[in-house]
Amino acid sequence: MSKKLKVVMTVKLPDGVETRFRELFNTTLWLNKNPMPREALFEAAQTAEVLVSSINDRIDAEFFEAAGEQLKMIANFGVGHDHIDIAKAVEKGIIVTNTPGVLTEDTAEMTMGLIIAVSRRFIEGAETVQRGEFSAWSPTFLMGRRIYGKRLGIVGMGRIGQALARRARAFGMQVHYHNRKPVSARISEELEATYWDDLDQMLARMDVVSINAPGGPNTFHLLDAERLAKLQPHAILVNTARGQIVDEEALAHLLREHKIAGVGLDVYERATAISPELFGLPNAVLLPHMASSTVEARTDMGDRVILNIKTLQDGHRPPDRVIP
Ligand code: DGY
Repeated sequence: MSKKLKVVMTVKLPDGVETRFRELFNTTLWLNKNPMPREALFEAAQTAEVLVSSINDRIDAEFFEAAGEQLKMIANFGVGHDHIDIAKAVEKGIIVTNTPGVLTEDTAEMTMGLIIAVSRRFIEGAETVQRGEFSAWSPTFLMGRRIYGKRLGIVGMGRIGQALARRARAFGMQVHYHNRKPVSARISEELEATYWDDLDQMLARMDVVSINAPGGPNTFHLLDAERLAKLQPHAILVNTARGQIVDEEALAHLLREHKIAGVGLDVYERATAISPELFGLPNAVLLPHMASSTVEARTDMGDRVILNIKTLQDGHRPPDRVIP
């Protein structure tokens, strides 16, 4: 039997997942519901053979400088890895893995939900009832916008973008997308999706825009103030990818000035430090980064992390390496 690796978790995982960690590895759990503070992270870098990280951790050059020789792998609990300095990891010979594929449907579901919630004013309606203010049916009360027949522009047509496109088709939306390159002819035909090489032109024509691109320096403020200004006044924007892709202050400004109709956000430019200008707006549906938060996805993510570590422990190359 292979020697158990010393695994340090920086985040509290679902109980069943943690039980398996304890069985398979020499595991140090993180039992606090708050993220691991930076000093503790640096300590972990000195002792762990495998660090199980999450989006809450800044795994940057300073972290890698602090890391001891024993650190072999960062097994990230999540698919996005823009919080990890991959180049530094490569330089130090440390493997980085993530959890692709297992949260695709869940994130696409939540994105579709947000599109409907904003367009059909779900939250305003639900709050009206909760406040006891639903006194009579009215032909003009809380009129939203139909999504059937509308143009959806997806920014980033990877796994999640495509899963969203399938759902949007089922709701009768017309799918458009911008991506580094067009998807294969087979997928494009299946989704009946129109490719836009020019993002500005696509933004100017859409009724709904959804951000589904990866984060990181290549997409930082991809939708800056100038690009956001291309959106039509009746358009809504939804982001379940990474907050830094959109200039949040410019977005809030457009919303306050009624230059766009609404937003549905699950992610923010500065994590939990949300721009105060977004608060108190009825047409802003704001969620706490929960797009992949289903029992199924979080269990599968845990299983993927376990598989990657177990494969390393057994002397093989983990399957979900970010850099193959
Ligand atoms: C992901 O998997 O990237 C989620 O956003 C959580 O980090």
